[in-house]
Amino acid sequence: MRVLITAGPTYEPLDPVRFIGNHSTGKMGYALAEAFAAEGAVVTLVSGPTNLPNPTDPRITTVRVQTAAEMFAAATAVASAANVWVFAAAVADYRPAEVATQKIKKSGNTLTLELVKNVDIAFELGKTKRAEQFSVGFALETENEQAHALGKLERKNFDLVVLNSLRNAGAGFRHDTNQVTLLEPEGRVTAFGLKPKTEVARDIVAAVLARLTLRHA
Ligand code: CTP
Ligand code: CA
Repeated sequence: MRVLITAGPTYEPLDPVRFIGNHSTGKMGYALAEAFAAEGAVVTLVSGPTNLPNPTDPRITTVRVQTAAEMFAAATAVASAANVWVFAAAVADYRPAEVATQKIKKSGNTLTLELVKNVDIAFELGKTKRAEQFSVGFALETENEQAHALGKLERKNFDLVVLNSLRNAGAGFRHDTNQVTLLEPEGRVTAFGLKPKTEVARDIVAAVLARLTLRHA
């Protein structure tokens, strides 16, 4: 098994000292890398900027990137050779239209930034997915959770989508715990309780392995 995982946030530069980013810590993606490696998989972890050290498991290769464009390039380089893709990164949907070469100076009372859409890594790779490949996406929703998550599953050609519940105070960004529901194309819904991200990762890996085994049965 060869696994591609995207993890962490992306930083989209505004000028030499500023960027647009988000609060993703990368913990979920890193935990998934460890969990897949523990099952014997060879893992490429494409990580945005995080405070986490590179995993030390020799089966995991960590590729560090900053922007969505860099993450897309790094993921594309290994996607074809991987049979499992996991898109755990919180990719910035937009980036500043222009990156100033010098530090932007303070001037008027308001400042308007123009943003342009970033590449959707999961969507673009989803178009290239072969029958034997298995793609896992994440969705974080605040309303119509399951319907929105299933929309992403279809659009991005996922075989499994991990819906992050924000209803629980201990789940999501900046927490060591997470509460997820797994959604699959055939309508199967599997809800898990609040647990450490390391255990959530093991649940996700177990689900992927079970689906791959079924395929080969
Ligand atoms: N994703 C990605 N590249 C992007 C945006 C999202 O690969 N530019 C992936 C995420 O890693 C995740 C899935 O797509 O696995 C869903 O991300 P999400 O932000 O929930 O979906 P969006 O399509 O960006 O929709 P929105 O933010 O409007 O809900
Ligand atoms: Ca998004």
